Amino acid sequence: MGDSTDIAIRARRLTKKYASGSSTITVFQDLDLQIRAGEQVAVIGESGAGKSTLLHLLGGLDRPTSGHIYYGPWETTAMRDAELSAFRNSQIGFVWQSHGLLPEFTALENVMMPLLIRGVAQSTAAKKALAEIAKVGLEARAQHRAGELSGGEQQRVALARALVTKPKIVLADEPTGNLDFTTGETIAALFSALHESRVVTSLMVTHNLAFAKRCDRVLLLDQGRLRPYNEATVTSQ
Ligand SMILES: Nc1ncnc2c1ncn2[C@@H]1O[C@H](COP(=O)(O)OP(=O)(O)OP(=O)(O)O)[C@@H](O)[C@H]1O
Ligand SMILES: [Mg+2]
Repeated sequence: MGDSTDIAIRARRLTKKYASGSSTITVFQDLDLQIRAGEQVAVIGESGAGKSTLLHLLGGLDRPTSGHIYYGPWETTAMRDAELSAFRNSQIGFVWQSHGLLPEFTALENVMMPLLIRGVAQSTAAKKALAEIAKVGLEARAQHRAGELSGGEQQRVALARALVTKPKIVLADEPTGNLDFTTGETIAALFSALHESRVVTSLMVTHNLAFAKRCDRVLLLDQGRLRPYNEATVTSQ
């Protein structure tokens, strides 16, 4: 199995089932995944394949039916809820598929929030949040209410919010989903820059193959299994 110390994220025999009426949906069973520290990995797969479910389990937002998740030496699946949320808040930047911003608050306030929760002073939080908003190209929108921004703008604010605490692990669910080509490129470049230092490890769900191919690896989630994506084995839609 080799040296496990450089493995940032490891999932072992991960199974997720949902009860639906009298039947059970098995999203995946005994799924294994290993991501090395510093790697940028993309997950692709059809709608309903279980990509968001996988990300939610890895991010500790949901619990697997069985199986184990490790971040380095820490097993998040063995943590109690309070410990798990503390771990998540301090280690993981999560970009939701539905961005999860607070619509009544400004873009700036939304991005400041994770810092304020950690006790960072208001003025420092504002400065850091503005810098992060500038990186996603939205400094002119910082004072707009999140609910009044376009879908793509909201998604970029959500990305800024996920990155403002400088997390070592970034989990992103379709971060370029609502973006035009140029803006999508801005976000792809931002991810590449994040990885230049090899300090950040990221797993991203995307339907954007051009973006996926800029990652170190592309995995296909299909019929409950994760395997290396090989274009030749996949029929195009
Ligand atoms: N809370 C839930 N209860 C029951 N079934 C669920 C629940 N959440 C997800 N599912 C089912 O699990 C499967 C995987 O859903 P998931 O959201 O992970 O798919 P996805 O790959 O992210 O799809 P998309 O590309 O459309 O976002 C789907 O069939 C979905 O209907
Ligand atoms: Mg999804």
